[in-house]
Amino acid sequence: MRIMVTGGAGFIGSALVRQLVTETDNTVINVDKLTYAGNLESLAGVRFHPRHTFERTDICEPEEVRHLLEKHRPDALIHLAAESHVDRSIAGPGAFIRTNIQGTFNLLEAARAHWEGLTGPERERFRFLHVSTDEVFGDLAPEDPPFTEHTAYTPSSPYSASKASSDHLVQAWHRTYGLPVLLTNCSNNYGPYQYPEKLMPLVILKALRGDPLPVYGTGEQSRDWLYVEDHARALRHILDRGRPGRSYNISGACERTNLEVVHALCAQLNRLAPHPEYSYERLIRFVPDRPGHDRRYALDATRLFQELGWRPAESFESGLAKTVRWYLDHRDWMERVLHGSPAHWAAGEAYGREATG
Ligand code: NAD
Ligand code: TYD
Repeated sequence: MRIMVTGGAGFIGSALVRQLVTETDNTVINVDKLTYAGNLESLAGVRFHPRHTFERTDICEPEEVRHLLEKHRPDALIHLAAESHVDRSIAGPGAFIRTNIQGTFNLLEAARAHWEGLTGPERERFRFLHVSTDEVFGDLAPEDPPFTEHTAYTPSSPYSASKASSDHLVQAWHRTYGLPVLLTNCSNNYGPYQYPEKLMPLVILKALRGDPLPVYGTGEQSRDWLYVEDHARALRHILDRGRPGRSYNISGACERTNLEVVHALCAQLNRLAPHPEYSYERLIRFVPDRPGHDRRYALDATRLFQELGWRPAESFESGLAKTVRWYLDHRDWMERVLHGSPAHWAAGEAYGREATG
């Protein structure tokens, strides 16, 4: 198959591209604008592979997107390109509206034109897989049951509202035009090559620098964590077996509070890279909360488990240990990616966050 992946130089997209190139014989057309979050170094080992082509393109440019589909005639499109960081969406929502909504619209229109021109098995085979987030469902109280595919959308942040909008467009293109779409909503990912503005790599990097570790509010908010390679495997599984028009939750059912995550990271660092004078927990600082901060995400992936037979390979403990080891071995990667936009690397600081103790 010829698979077009958007956002394939980002955190999750690059994991997917690396798997598609090394574990299948598919051809990958990787479409990415290379914003601050995109990095060709994340394609280590596959960038110059004969079955990998990189196209530096902004999905907000409709003519360029249409041209790419005409040129490469993909059998499937997996759409990950997005602005993805909640704190950045609070500091500046415009780019989220453009890329996540307008960009998805451009891709849907180009995919529709491409698909309508196909015949026979090629038309049967074509899929548009849209990668989304559990954040579209809003948040949960501590005693609520996890989100299912039937939970109503109530997004809280500019990021999650823009992703919710894109999900609605994708479903509408299926219902109205018959475009064979698949939609996935995944919980928080962690693992190698994540830009160090998200919680896990940020804490690791700051701990190694001896900087304060910022915990928003009380640290009691909780997230449902999934190792990124498991997410990439789930996407491949759903592309192969999912039913067009259907959405699938992807989760490893690993709920942890933010404070538990930060303590788990400190414990790993104390073991693998001990500081001679103190335990890393000593660096933890509670800082003012994120505006509109979602209390809790938890995702029920029974549909994916039962209908499609997928299971994650990593537990939270095994994934976290791998992740910390990876960042310790790739400190040069972290320093290099931050070099591009050092002033913004902790976007929360952009709206005046200061430690309170
Ligand atoms: P990321 O920010 O690491 O990567 C996004 C990629 O998209 C980057 O390579 C960037 O250069 C590219 N991009 C941004 N704007 C673009 C544009 N206009 N045109 C072309 N390329 C553009 O994000 P990620 O964490 O890898 O997330 C990928 C997708 O998965 C997103 O759609 C996100 O909403 C979704 N998702 C993420 C998580 C998570 O925990 N990270 C969880 C569930 C779903
Ligand atoms: P993040 O990695 O930004 O992902 P998301 O907001 O999409 O869930 O944040 C994960 C959780 O960690 C979230 O509840 C906010 C919290 N957080 C902190 O407490 N401190 C930080 O410095 C960051 C970046 C996040």
